Amino acid sequence: MERIVYMDNAATTPVDAAVLDEMKPFFTEQFANPMTYAHSSSGDVAHVAVEEARVRVASLIGSQPEQVMFTSGGTESDNWVLKGTVERASRERLHKSGHLVTAEFEHHAILHSALALQRQGYEVTFVKVGHSGIVDPDDVQRAMRPTTALVSIMHANNEIGTIQPIADIARIAHEHGALMHTDAVQTTAHIPVDVDTLGVDFLSVSAHKFNGPKGVGILFVRDQEALYPFIDGGGQEWGLRGSTHNVPGIVGLGKAAQLGKERLPRELERLTMLRDMLLSKLSAQIDGIVVNGDMKQRVPQNLNIRIEGIDNEPLLLAMNEAGIIAAGGSACNALETLASHVLTSIGCDLKEAKSSIRLSLGYATTTEDVNYAIDVIPGLVKFLRSMA
Ligand SMILES: Cc1ncc(COP(=O)(O)O)c(C=O)c1O
Repeated sequence: MERIVYMDNAATTPVDAAVLDEMKPFFTEQFANPMTYAHSSSGDVAHVAVEEARVRVASLIGSQPEQVMFTSGGTESDNWVLKGTVERASRERLHKSGHLVTAEFEHHAILHSALALQRQGYEVTFVKVGHSGIVDPDDVQRAMRPTTALVSIMHANNEIGTIQPIADIARIAHEHGALMHTDAVQTTAHIPVDVDTLGVDFLSVSAHKFNGPKGVGILFVRDQEALYPFIDGGGQEWGLRGSTHNVPGIVGLGKAAQLGKERLPRELERLTMLRDMLLSKLSAQIDGIVVNGDMKQRVPQNLNIRIEGIDNEPLLLAMNEAGIIAAGGSACNALETLASHVLTSIGCDLKEAKSSIRLSLGYATTTEDVNYAIDVIPGLVKFLRSMA
């Protein structure tokens, strides 16, 4: 059988078999609406399952269960917190027009939400990032205004994997009376994520980045008073997010959270070792490799490199032919055919951005997978360079 080495785990991960097993009954026998638990025993089973998932997710991020709001994933959580807090703070809490501080290299779920707010007349400052791919807290400090309602900086970037000094930035936000959000979609279950250590008021999580199902995530909300509902409806999630619960998805998220918490210490070490081996062995065989962004402050599963004299498109196609699936540019957005906004935000020019690839490992990645990539990629680079 043809060998497939999946190195695009930052885009999505396969659902773990144990996660699928826990989800299955909630599609069929246990299909009840969890909101009917007061008068039906099957509703009670679904309700208990949803609440158990809430406890498991809370345990993963160090929050109280009632601070976990189920959503349809990272994109919804990001949209909700930006729109829900800036509007609320502007209208009610601070009695002033809202200003949002975020960064140039955020995921489009944040960037496009910020632009939507801007179109409605709210003010937004996009902090610059620089070569390291790490936001400087002093730049956030300089961006703060008396009207700043929210600061939203991602915990780790989805393309280059760089980890941000969220606790320092949260301190600055709070000193200025603003709330703090972080998009922890790329860090949850990969590195320790604790809402109190980070000092955040809101935090976004998506299940499909840690072997859970797609279309489900959470928004951690420290204080429900701080934001408006995003989806008005039937009173679910304390009236903050209407819509019948996605019970199988939520159960899957809960199981993935439980497994993620158990596996984290070992996986952090294992993936760091594999990722570092991948870099050192590729660098030993291919000259002109440069790592995009800081290598130390980086999630263990991410390697983003540019390879001098290479166009990433033919390289990724050739890798795909050889069974290695990886990404260039923004992998969550295949339409981003120009340079990735993340790479340009850290100072890469068009040529550098177009010579970059992201190799992202996951729970299913084996040492043999990494060795296969180390064996195959140098030959493909050599061939493409000879053709140039
Ligand atoms: C950092 C980051 N935020 C948000 C998202 C969106 O999450 P979802 O796919 O659950 O909507 C992603 C993944 O695509 C991501 O990497």
